[in-house]
Amino acid sequence: MNDSFHSVRIMDNFYQSSSFFPMPLTLIGTLDEEGKTTSFGAYSLVFPYYIAGKESYAMLLECRNSSNTAKGILRHKRCTINFLPYSKKNFASHVKLGFPGDTPAEKMREFDFHTEDSLSSADGDGLYPKIISEALQVFECTWWDSLDGAQDDVVKEEYEPPYHDFNGITSKFGAHFILKVDKILMKDEYYDYIVNGVGKKRFMPLATNWGYRDSSTFWCSDFTRPDGVGIPDRQVDVSSVRYAVDRLDDQSVSFTDDALQMIVKVPRPFLKLVLQGCVNWAHENNVTKITAKEMQEINDKRAKEKKERK
Ligand SMILES: Cc1cc2nc3c(=O)[nH]c(=O)nc-3n(C[C@H](O)[C@H](O)[C@H](O)COP(=O)(O)O)c2cc1C
Repeated sequence: MNDSFHSVRIMDNFYQSSSFFPMPLTLIGTLDEEGKTTSFGAYSLVFPYYIAGKESYAMLLECRNSSNTAKGILRHKRCTINFLPYSKKNFASHVKLGFPGDTPAEKMREFDFHTEDSLSSADGDGLYPKIISEALQVFECTWWDSLDGAQDDVVKEEYEPPYHDFNGITSKFGAHFILKVDKILMKDEYYDYIVNGVGKKRFMPLATNWGYRDSSTFWCSDFTRPDGVGIPDRQVDVSSVRYAVDRLDDQSVSFTDDALQMIVKVPRPFLKLVLQGCVNWAHENNVTKITAKEMQEINDKRAKEKKERK
């Protein structure tokens, strides 16, 4: 028997009707029917979906299937996810763009920001929604319509079953879109932070939408200075690393203890992957024994690749 918590009734829109759920605040840009004008809608149910190990990185967007955004993605496949700095004024602009039923033309007549071409509009057919000039960060995305067999979904007045499970039209009123991340754009200052190191005063001042809204009010929290907590400095004994080495399928490369000592901080779930990477490097470089010297070379190569990726 637990009397320190209440069990809350779980109902439709439970993330805001039955709980306080922190979410991003974004404006998503899509093209109108003619593919000429970009309009923007306010969206918070947009999260990273494929973050590694797939052919593309992807986001997931949950939205009403009658929205301009859903129609724009179904028709033209592309969208831009714009993150603006938090201010009460900007939040009010998001709420204005969150009012259902306005056509793209009506929305853009009273749009509070400026727009410019996306970077991706220079590629392919150029049919890409615009981005918001005042945004600090923008994800340019293409709908991955082949997932869940959603490539034939089209805009309709009413959506009848059957529905998809997780991509395309997923219910009478709902749509889910898995969006390949084509580009991530960032303003200079924040690009510097993410490449050269963040800090208490070196962070992107984004809003957090705390989910809750009632019939009269949307709520959103201001950005405050972030706190940093160091990653736990946990290292395993070198014998645990040796144990993992002995269990590799490929035993043609040996490791000295001082080499293994250099990777004792690698968390256990990633150890096999790291060791396999070392073995692959050894084959590529005709090495059969990895000492501290070779391990240093591998580490330097990884650090260089990481820097280049940024
Ligand atoms: C802060 C905020 C966040 C919102 N998040 C979502 C969301 O994640 N999914 C959704 O379907 N609607 C969401 N809405 C409601 C949409 O903005 C609303 O349906 C709007 O009409 C969409 O614009 P569009 O038709 O131009 O796409 C949100 C509204 C606000 C104000």
